[in-house]
Amino acid sequence: MYRSNTCGELRLADAGKEVTLAGWVQRSRKMGGMTFVDLRDRYGITQVVFNNEVDAELCESANKLGREYVIQVVGMVAERSSKNPHLPTGDIEIIARRLTVLNRSEVPPFTIEDDTDGGDDLRMKYRYLDLRRGCVRSNLELRHRMTMEVRRYLDGKGFLEVETPMLVGSTPEGARDFVVPSRMNPGQFYALPQSPQTLKQLLMVSGIDRYFQIVKCFRDEDLRADRQPEFTQIDCEMSYVEQDDIINLFEGMAKHLFKELRGVELTEPFIRMPWADAMKYYGSDKPDLRFGMQFVELMDVMRGHGFSVFDNAAYVGGICAEGAAVYTRKQLDQLTEFVKRPQIGAKGMVYARVEADGNVKSSVDKFYTQETLQEMKGKFGAKPGDLILILSGDDVMKTRKQLCELRLEMGRQLGLRDKNKFACLWVVDFPMFEWSEEENRLMAMHHPFTHPKDEDIPLLDTDPAAVRADAYDMVINGVEVGGGSIRIHDSALQAKMFEILGFTPERAQEQFGFLMNAFKYGAPPHGGLAYGLDRWVSLFAGLDSIRDCIAFPKNNSGRDVMLDAPSALDVAQLDELSLAIVSPTED
Ligand code: AMO
Repeated sequence: MYRSNTCGELRLADAGKEVTLAGWVQRSRKMGGMTFVDLRDRYGITQVVFNNEVDAELCESANKLGREYVIQVVGMVAERSSKNPHLPTGDIEIIARRLTVLNRSEVPPFTIEDDTDGGDDLRMKYRYLDLRRGCVRSNLELRHRMTMEVRRYLDGKGFLEVETPMLVGSTPEGARDFVVPSRMNPGQFYALPQSPQTLKQLLMVSGIDRYFQIVKCFRDEDLRADRQPEFTQIDCEMSYVEQDDIINLFEGMAKHLFKELRGVELTEPFIRMPWADAMKYYGSDKPDLRFGMQFVELMDVMRGHGFSVFDNAAYVGGICAEGAAVYTRKQLDQLTEFVKRPQIGAKGMVYARVEADGNVKSSVDKFYTQETLQEMKGKFGAKPGDLILILSGDDVMKTRKQLCELRLEMGRQLGLRDKNKFACLWVVDFPMFEWSEEENRLMAMHHPFTHPKDEDIPLLDTDPAAVRADAYDMVINGVEVGGGSIRIHDSALQAKMFEILGFTPERAQEQFGFLMNAFKYGAPPHGGLAYGLDRWVSLFAGLDSIRDCIAFPKNNSGRDVMLDAPSALDVAQLDELSLAIVSPTED
């Protein structure tokens, strides 16, 4: 028997018991004739004491222990004279009688403590050591509890967990695929699924009725704090449902998860905000509603006064930051620099302070009378002490997105983005299509299987860009935590959709024939949604990046620095796969 108890388990009530513990040496210190060892495992830390006067040889062995040695200790639980209130086991210690070194350890490259001295790269290289740290491990524990709760909830609602394949065909829509060469079919490739979208739809045709899967998805796209090339979805699909049925069921699941995992009771129904409003008032399809600062459009008030920047702009709009008139010139210059960064791309920023007497003092005073500035102030409902920040531009959507960045930055600077506050909403009525400059054609905003709103179907022929979709996203604190739609279940409508997206009938048949054919055999009306598990866990854990809730994540260049992947293949393996590498320099 390696151990009778864990290192997080023993309490004062256990005093007098003989126990065997096993774990890692977190730290050891010598004080007088005593050696104290903090012994750690997944469950906690227990102090072990070696007394030189009782057993000098044993104490001598304890003095030789290094950090992260794996040891087994047999001893007696005793009450501590100086208790540690910060440790659940802090009332007791183990008076060691026997010590066995189960394995030695080299000095770890960083300290295995919550407050570690290891930088990001080092911790990723030695991720197995990083995961020994309680603060990292607790994210995995939360993740586990979340998937348990998801399974419990969905099982209770009659959902069936069905696995779908990881080796599938490449789909041209959406992100880039990760592909896998097929040895048995030279020159042909599988793709790893970007999501099980079409497969779950086929399961509806099969009569599964309510499906879910906690499933890995793969997308070869640029990485950000909330994006990994492989991530996990809680993927769901239901038959005989309308948008409200899905929204209600998954809002119920969200509330269940908040209660079970965060102890937060969300009693109010989530706001449902049309996409057009989200863009108009927040410049984003994932607005952070933990704070206000809604956009106010100022084209009518601010244009036509001789300030050419505004006069020639298609969009002029601003936000009002309560109490921020105290911002100094330097802070305002820094905000201007912020919006002028290439990633944001604004040309400049105009500001206006509401002074104590109610007068407005702006950076473009010479173009505006106090009367016009008061009219502007009225639009914001601004009070003395408030700061108004204004952006303008030729492209309405682009300028709104810039203003969105400014709003989020002001929210951050003013401490309004509290991680312990949760603002949940559904964004609904998405446009069916968006224009892709890159491809010079319409692309599906969600995916090509999304059903257009019934009342907009006639527009498919006349004005496809105006068609709205039966699609919805769940957004929490400015993060898209899930999205879905009602699907097309009619093969003719699906074919039309591919046509609008620029597919020839042959190409549509070649790539999606399996789905359109299945629709010919009695496909029930259906719809669904997928939650991003990693994003949910990081939201609940208050993490800045989803990397921290993934056991073995990739870095920003898509590399696993621990496994040193991706890596080159040797020639024999390439030959077997009928592959040849074109050196990047040969082009
Ligand atoms: P979508 O592409 O919106 O929809 O993905 C669903 C949810 O998955 C999460 N997510 C990601 N998380 C981490 N890293 C990524 N790279 C990443 N990409 C997406 C987000 C997102 O809301 N098949 C559809 C769902 C459906 O229509 O049912 C789909 O995949 O939280």
